[in-house]
Amino acid sequence: MSNYHIKHFEEYFQVYRKSVNNPESFWEEIAEEHFVWRKKWNNVLRWDFQKPEIKWFEGAQLNITENCLDRHLHTRGDKTAILFEPNDPNEPAEHITYKQLYDRVCKFANVLHDKGISKGDRVCIYLPMIPELAVAVLACARIGAIHSVVFAGFSSTALSTRINDCDAKMVICADGSYRGSKTIDLKGIVDEALKDCPGVESVLVAKRINSDIAMKEGRDEWLQPLLDEAYREYSAVIMDAEDPLFILYTSGSTGMPKGMLHTIGGYMVYTAYTFKNVFQYKEEDVYWCTADIGWITGHSYIVYGPLCNGATTVMFEGVPSYPDFGRFWEIVDKHKVNQFYTAPTAIRALAKHGTELIEKYDLSSLKVLGSVGEPINEEAWHWYNDNVGKKKSPIVDTWWQTETGGIMITPIPFSTPTKPTYATLPFIGIQPALMDENGQEIKGNQVDGRLCIKFPWPSMARTIWGNHQRYKDTYFSAFENMYFTGDGALRDEVGYYRITGRVDDVIIVSGHNLGTAPIEDAINEHNAVAESAIVGFPHDVKGNALYGFITLKDVGETRQHDNVRKEINQLITDRIGPIAKLDKIQFTSGLPKTRSGKIMRRILRKIASHETENLGDTSTLLNPEVVQEIMDNVK
Ligand code: WTA
Repeated sequence: MSNYHIKHFEEYFQVYRKSVNNPESFWEEIAEEHFVWRKKWNNVLRWDFQKPEIKWFEGAQLNITENCLDRHLHTRGDKTAILFEPNDPNEPAEHITYKQLYDRVCKFANVLHDKGISKGDRVCIYLPMIPELAVAVLACARIGAIHSVVFAGFSSTALSTRINDCDAKMVICADGSYRGSKTIDLKGIVDEALKDCPGVESVLVAKRINSDIAMKEGRDEWLQPLLDEAYREYSAVIMDAEDPLFILYTSGSTGMPKGMLHTIGGYMVYTAYTFKNVFQYKEEDVYWCTADIGWITGHSYIVYGPLCNGATTVMFEGVPSYPDFGRFWEIVDKHKVNQFYTAPTAIRALAKHGTELIEKYDLSSLKVLGSVGEPINEEAWHWYNDNVGKKKSPIVDTWWQTETGGIMITPIPFSTPTKPTYATLPFIGIQPALMDENGQEIKGNQVDGRLCIKFPWPSMARTIWGNHQRYKDTYFSAFENMYFTGDGALRDEVGYYRITGRVDDVIIVSGHNLGTAPIEDAINEHNAVAESAIVGFPHDVKGNALYGFITLKDVGETRQHDNVRKEINQLITDRIGPIAKLDKIQFTSGLPKTRSGKIMRRILRKIASHETENLGDTSTLLNPEVVQEIMDNVK
């Protein structure tokens, strides 16, 4: 029996048991039967969560792009690989076949090669959701360069921090991007960032909005003329399974963003296998994930997972609200989308506009609906289920992380009975555990605790780029011999998991992870600010929004406060990006602190969420009068 495609619930249990009872032979079989390797592995798995060190398929050789492209050329050469839907609905969609994608990737790889990029070099990709983004990612993989995609909504400071952290030699960007009715000057942002990045030798610029931009002599070059000249074959560089594939930054609770490093073999096997089963992808299906390739969801489930399966994957450049809030449904109808994967924040934003815009379109092609990025609340779940899926397309609420590389807890559609707000059961090979505060595993059902994973899975991040100690401290130190996710979860009476949210200082706003520390650092740069603390509070569209409690050095006239508010949000936009702006700002005469001087965010969180009836243990609180004042003035 092939275990690659799970079709019913009993089969899920059988395969699951096999995968945890004998993980090595299980993954060996999947890897062997469904992927192209130049050389087989010596060991399927070697691991040690103490060090920590995780190696899958050690000794094997491959190139992931041979799995995404070359092997499909004979059987699916003329099938659409990427279906590009532009921002402007009047601009025609582009169907890029596997053959064409192969040519474009090879040409791009030749351009990289000619520019002196070779195996192991880091290339930063800062592009909007246009085909060049996927092509650039694959071209890096083809020549063995490590891509670091930075979401093109990040500011110049955020970009330069990421470029310098991984010491990227090259930046690939566009002149600008379209976002609904707006355009964004991406090249300007890159120019600003590169003032602080001495290591960048070259910049390749894709033309998208035809804006008049400055090109720096000797550094910047237009991409298209180079591609036009390039040869359309590039033989893939053969890589080791444990060679790096990419770095992707994610926010931590403190300090610098963490450059999560993923390696090739295990990541490929796991993302492809989850894609096939979680979306029940069939050969003729059109699959659409609305994420941006700047996030892990786009890496794993727009590019690598779908292409490894020879799927047709939609890439959408625009936003759900342009030209109106019916755009998603218009695209589903136009391209007869079968699997649709989006975030709860998008669902809530669309639900606000009622169902009229849905009724204009034929959504009968939909078979599976997905959700990712944050807990989906009951109301949004039902709205999605009733109005989009018409109660016949199962919702897969997929829980996972940048660090996990692939989907970890999820229903398998048409097999696992779904339950609103529950991600349900661990995927094949995944061994979750709930832990209590004393570091003990909580067994049995109807319990809640901190979510950990007991055993390695192929697509887990191997380290934090340049900081292995931080990797160990963040993920492997809280609980012995466990990977700690940073999330809380509960397990219901039948063993289904529900993710309750972050238990650290990461706040998920509109599905984007934001660390409080970098935002506070940005605020504290304002010369009127003495101190600040950021917490999340519930928001009906964003899931969480940011509330800033800020103490000014000199409590001047209230008239000036509005200016300071604006300036603070501008600073945040400059340092991080508009996604991190504060929804509410309250100026306070002080912040609640413990006797040892630590800010008691727990109390601020309760105040911001209007849950002040029980503030919890306040025995270590140094300044109760400040808490009273904050509660009296709360917004
Ligand atoms: C949260 C996104 C509840 C969680 C793939 C996790 C979720 C963080 C879900 C990772 C879900 C993601 N239900 N919470 N289905 N999916 N999360 O790294 O807190 O951007 O730790 O990866 O998002 O976010 P990241």
